[in-house]
Amino acid sequence: MSVEHKSPPPGSEARDRLRIAVVGTGLLGERHARFWGQQDDVDLVGLIDLNIQQATNAAERLAGTFGIPRPPVFTSLDDLLKSSGADAVSVATPDFAHRDPVVRALEAGLHVLVEKPLAMTTDDAKAMTEASRRSGRWLMVNHSMRWIPRYRAIHDAIRSGQWGKMVVAHSAKSDVIHVPTEMLRWASRTSAAYFLTAHDLDLVRWFAGDRIVRVYAQGARGVLDRNGIDAYDAIQSSVTFANGSIASFEASWIHPNTYPSFTDDYMHVICENGVAYLDRGREGTEVFETDRVRHPKHSTVYEQDGRIYGSFRHALEHFTHCIRAGIEPLTSARRVMGVVSALEAIHRSLDSGMPVIVDDGFGD
Ligand SMILES: NC(=O)c1ccc[n+]([C@@H]2O[C@H](COP(=O)([O-])OP(=O)(O)OC[C@H]3O[C@@H](n4cnc5c(N)ncnc54)[C@H](O)[C@@H]3O)[C@@H](O)[C@H]2O)c1
Repeated sequence: MSVEHKSPPPGSEARDRLRIAVVGTGLLGERHARFWGQQDDVDLVGLIDLNIQQATNAAERLAGTFGIPRPPVFTSLDDLLKSSGADAVSVATPDFAHRDPVVRALEAGLHVLVEKPLAMTTDDAKAMTEASRRSGRWLMVNHSMRWIPRYRAIHDAIRSGQWGKMVVAHSAKSDVIHVPTEMLRWASRTSAAYFLTAHDLDLVRWFAGDRIVRVYAQGARGVLDRNGIDAYDAIQSSVTFANGSIASFEASWIHPNTYPSFTDDYMHVICENGVAYLDRGREGTEVFETDRVRHPKHSTVYEQDGRIYGSFRHALEHFTHCIRAGIEPLTSARRVMGVVSALEAIHRSLDSGMPVIVDDGFGD
């Protein structure tokens, strides 16, 4: 099923070049800005951050280090939406701060690419999805793992009928403790589930091809509490799909900083006629240097000749392709808002200690 959107206004998407701005210029937002600034058919037309110094520094780094024309820094979102001439924005604010800039940008007639998770509550996810429908502008969620070829291959083997239906999946994702204690200034306002399981819930819903109807979750606390971070060290969630498939997800945030990559990442998927085991923690490469061991990640983001490659690139290219071609993004808010309902149910289960019945409203 696809959604009808209004045809693009004359003089915007039909142009060869797209004008894109970035809201929130932290780690991810600066990466979006750099990517847009390095595209031949995109103009990076503005940056904004709650912390203006953060956006100013990002603009200077983009110009100084990457030779990107210095983008204007705006001090109010209204100014950016009115004066930058943007056709689209990337929103990379913290997990809990997506709704306001997303809805305002959609209402101003811009297409929006928002970082995962779409939102932290079903209410916010619905409001954003509804704003996209009303405005006739695309809202795509950057679930970039969908563009990692091995996940796509599993999806295609299931969907073609070759592997039959997904029976059970298990995933584990673990960040080094640097992530919640130093990298994120807002770890207490999200969780390992919102931050990590969001990726795998999206992938496994895509494999299962059906709605999540029941969730049970358990959490363990201690290490982060002792570090002054009000967050679970680990969250295990078990979900049931309407078609009887089951899956479990583990997310943890306390790996020692000596671990050879930011994220350890593992998944297995068992189908009626096929099984896949994926170790994304190592990706087949271990590097030993005089003072450290590394597991470089080449599937999501890597650099070559000063440019960004990997699934991050493919996801962002998909966004501009969908704007130009007028087709619904693979990870439109409508299609993935159920990830948010499932994540919210995981937290309701953590709070109550009980299973939670949910209907994640699977969006094809
Ligand atoms: N796709 C991925 O693999 C991936 C990886 C890491 C983070 N993320 C997601 O990206 C988003 C950003 O994460 P990050 O690590 O870059 O965080 P960050 O803290 O480095 O950056 C967030 C920035 O947003 C700014 N900000 C906060 N509220 C704002 C507002 N209302 N308007 C404008 N700016 C605002 C903050 O000042 C900060 O500079 C999060 O949703 C996160 O989960 C995605």
